[in-house]
Amino acid sequence: MDDFQGRVALVTGAARGQGRAHALAYAERGADLVICDRCEDSPAVRYPLATEAELAETEKMVTDLGRRCISQKLDTADRPALEALVARAESELGKIDIAVANAGVSVMGGVQTLTTEQWDEVIGSNLTGVFNTITAVAPGMIERGYGRIVTVSSMLGRQGGPGMIGYSASKWGVIGITKSAAQDLAYNGITVNAVAPGNISTPMIHNDTMYHLMRGDLENPTWDDVAPVFASLHVQPVPAIESEEVSRVVLFLTAEASAHLTGIVVPVDAGVAARVTA
Ligand SMILES: NC(=O)c1ccc[n+]([C@@H]2O[C@H](COP(=O)([O-])OP(=O)(O)OC[C@H]3O[C@@H](n4cnc5c(N)ncnc54)[C@H](O)[C@@H]3O)[C@@H](O)[C@H]2O)c1
Repeated sequence: MDDFQGRVALVTGAARGQGRAHALAYAERGADLVICDRCEDSPAVRYPLATEAELAETEKMVTDLGRRCISQKLDTADRPALEALVARAESELGKIDIAVANAGVSVMGGVQTLTTEQWDEVIGSNLTGVFNTITAVAPGMIERGYGRIVTVSSMLGRQGGPGMIGYSASKWGVIGITKSAAQDLAYNGITVNAVAPGNISTPMIHNDTMYHLMRGDLENPTWDDVAPVFASLHVQPVPAIESEEVSRVVLFLTAEASAHLTGIVVPVDAGVAARVTA
């Protein structure tokens, strides 16, 4: 399961957080990497997104492990940009065997408050971005008769949440894309599966906006203040899970031997799956 020697893996949103952890997990196990990130803030997202320096740092960490790495600043909502990156990777590295459609944003707002700009951002990054990633890598995978694709949904892709209407819609949509793509590509040696994380310890949850949302009664809430609120969203009594725990599931789903697992959703969510239907 752990040998990815000779494989090439594309990871979107790899400048930091889970995407960086996935990229390093593949590099440590012998794969070459293709990484990208938008490296720009969005007016619709109320916490900082990654920087070009962080993407460069991920690239350096991969090459320090002795692996080749193509790195590109791009927005996954931009289909031609993703197609160009895949074409470059196929020309320079020969192929893409694995794609992890990880890039995404958290946009908070409910029926009464979510703006059109916020809706467009969360659907563009989280849903269209996943569609674009799959459609960009699929032609080469079909030609070669081999591919392993993982999408990133959320525990909010399997339930609703107050003030999360756009995010939840995007992550339910990711599961719809995953199950449909799994069937479209089933005759071509390509699997498509999703992970559905709970609270993962990345900048997406560790930021002032999120902390204030969790503890609006405090002027300067700290992690100690918000941790019990995060824990209450899980079933197991833990506020957050490390990215590497998600990486292990991503590795499993993209291992060569996971040939007949396709169209499934694997929760990494400290028991939230126990609350939703099968
Ligand atoms: N952290 C959590 O609690 C949690 C829970 C469930 C699901 N997720 C999902 O996991 C994935 C990874 O998030 P994370 O926790 O590592 O957060 P993160 O904010 O640390 O990382 C997300 C990365 O994606 C990049 N990105 C955002 N939109 C992009 C776009 N349109 N094009 C290219 N890059 C883009 C960001 O710059 C950032 O580097 C996301 O899809 C997120 O929705 C996160």
